[in-house]
Amino acid sequence: MIVPDFIPQPYSKSIAKGSFTWSSPSNIALVKYWGKKQDQIPENPSISFTLNNCKTTTTVHFSKKENDGDYSFEVFLDGEKKDDFKPKIKTFFKRVEAYLPFLKDYHFKIETENTFPHSSGIASSASGMSALALCLMSIEKELIESVSEENFIQKASFLARLGSGSACRSLEGDLVVWGKHDKIKGSSDLFGLKYPYEVHQDFENYEDTILLVDKGEKQVSSTVGHNLMHGHPFAVERFKQANKNLSEMIAILKEGNLDGFIALVESEALTLHSMMMTSMPYFILMKPNTLEIINKIWAYRKSSDSKVCFTLDAGANVHVLYPAREKDAVLEFIKDELVAYCQNGQYINDIIGFGAKQS
Ligand code: DP6
Repeated sequence: MIVPDFIPQPYSKSIAKGSFTWSSPSNIALVKYWGKKQDQIPENPSISFTLNNCKTTTTVHFSKKENDGDYSFEVFLDGEKKDDFKPKIKTFFKRVEAYLPFLKDYHFKIETENTFPHSSGIASSASGMSALALCLMSIEKELIESVSEENFIQKASFLARLGSGSACRSLEGDLVVWGKHDKIKGSSDLFGLKYPYEVHQDFENYEDTILLVDKGEKQVSSTVGHNLMHGHPFAVERFKQANKNLSEMIAILKEGNLDGFIALVESEALTLHSMMMTSMPYFILMKPNTLEIINKIWAYRKSSDSKVCFTLDAGANVHVLYPAREKDAVLEFIKDELVAYCQNGQYINDIIGFGAKQS
């Protein structure tokens, strides 16, 4: 499927070489994307908080070459050559070439680094793919007459999605919706949209402390994981539920309904894991310590008036979400009761952020 809207006019300018740098954050889904169709089209809409501290900084150096019909690029992570990243980037280049026709006209040196520890179990695909998409967009901007800020971000999000679905939600903040939803004007399966409606001040500066329960390699790659939803016995109901949850989220965000938020976000996390447990083949991605942490959070909430809650990605790590005003109390609770369940006592304090930045 080629989307004509994102094919550029023939380039009117030329540039021999240069470099661009972008930092782009990770994001944490509240209503989860799990299941996709051909061409990275999500089966259901999702919404996420953009993070602030967990991010990838990528510099793309480019220099003109003969178009010999092939891509030419090298990749470095923290200064070290990473040939094992090349297949993923090559796949990305192939998917986006129709929209970035300059890709075979340049040699690229891609230098990337993450603020979070490598192999922390934190996916770098959202931050990494969005940073790369932005660098490529900056190059394209040099080749065309003019591009509006809105079109720039929208196309960057469109491209990032073709690298990794959730990456299209990392460019802006603090809340981003991806996937067509009847009640969210402007929402699209093709790119992320900055959440366009009123958000209660209780959700401003929301905190996310990421507890690193298991820092190992992902047990299930996202491609394998999403594919498990094809022919899954509960898939149709799940996709309906995600739509309904997103509708409910609109009111929750507007009213500052923290109890509603907790119930919806925790249920989404457990549903995501239930989908994996009930697929064929089946997986359990939580670890015993993930469950210990969940139970501690529930007990803490019961014994206080805290609005702390958890969510999970497709792994064992726990994202602990809480309003800014609870920061001191929850951090103390985390140190006293939860750190013991983290691998080597490691956790990352993050906060909701506002998207990617050029440097
Ligand atoms: C569980 O975006 O990593 O984090 O499109 O195959 O790259 P691909 O998948 P990916 O899936 C993320 C799934 C999730 C939920 C979410 O972020 O919505």
